Amino acid sequence: MTDQYAVFGNPIEHSKSPILHQLFAEQTEQNMHYAKQLVALDGFSDAVKTFIAQGGQGLNITVPFKEQAFAIADDLSERAQKAGAVNTLAVQKDGRLYGDNTDGVGIVRDIEANHGWHIKGKNILVLGAGGAVRGVLGPLLASQPASVTVANRTVAKAEALAELFSNDGNIQAVGFAEIPAQDFDLIINGTSASLSGNLPAINPKLISVKSHCYDMMYSQQLTPFLQWAKEQGCEQLADGLGMLVEQAAEAFYLWRGVRPETADVIMQLRTA
Ligand code: ATR
Repeated sequence: MTDQYAVFGNPIEHSKSPILHQLFAEQTEQNMHYAKQLVALDGFSDAVKTFIAQGGQGLNITVPFKEQAFAIADDLSERAQKAGAVNTLAVQKDGRLYGDNTDGVGIVRDIEANHGWHIKGKNILVLGAGGAVRGVLGPLLASQPASVTVANRTVAKAEALAELFSNDGNIQAVGFAEIPAQDFDLIINGTSASLSGNLPAINPKLISVKSHCYDMMYSQQLTPFLQWAKEQGCEQLADGLGMLVEQAAEAFYLWRGVRPETADVIMQLRTA
């Protein structure tokens, strides 16, 4: 029987994961099938059990189930433990369910390998302190930036993250109004503000022509954050499409033991 994989989420209609993994499977000649499944909000763990009982090998987990996936995993990678969330589940040989989080490695690889931007030694401003940001802070700090400043509308959430990652590097927390007026090399938007057409309320002076601005969201046009950054004169802009592809590639590697090439896949998705 063909090995079975799927992405679970709610909503799931617009997920690009099936097309991504199909492209990876063709490229690496893996015999596998990958589906998307809309899971009822109160039905996550039952859906996982059913999937595994029917021979499923691995799952990607998206909104709003990443914390529940974390809770049901039998074993967790260190990065998943730190993230408090799981985006990839793999059924192991002994039947135990392994939970990993590939979002952080995804963004780091996109920033460094695909865009050629540097993290090591740089001053980074991260906007937002929700699940998405928590998921990426570990791998970001592991790339040895000079500093990471986490700014959030609700400052207590930024403070909690800075505390959680305090042993992983130089990290501090502030409210949007208290962001120090220093030159940040890289500004990452990890808020979900653009979903509602909003911008994080930060001082435009924080962005200069030398800044690199990255939005963890992606869209056909520039995201509201990147559009705004461009209007402030920022020239180095990237959205989260590459991160999406890289986190998928890392999940694929975990399942299949082969690492797909991502550059062409990113291009194909961009022009699709
Ligand atoms: P996700 O999984 O996308 O991280 P989340 O955990 O709900 O979702 O976190 C959403 C993040 O976007 C939070 O940092 C939130 O700020 P608060 O913690 O203050 O709520 C941020 N966010 C959402 N809408 C925003 C807006 N209009 N302006 C600024 N920040 C916003």
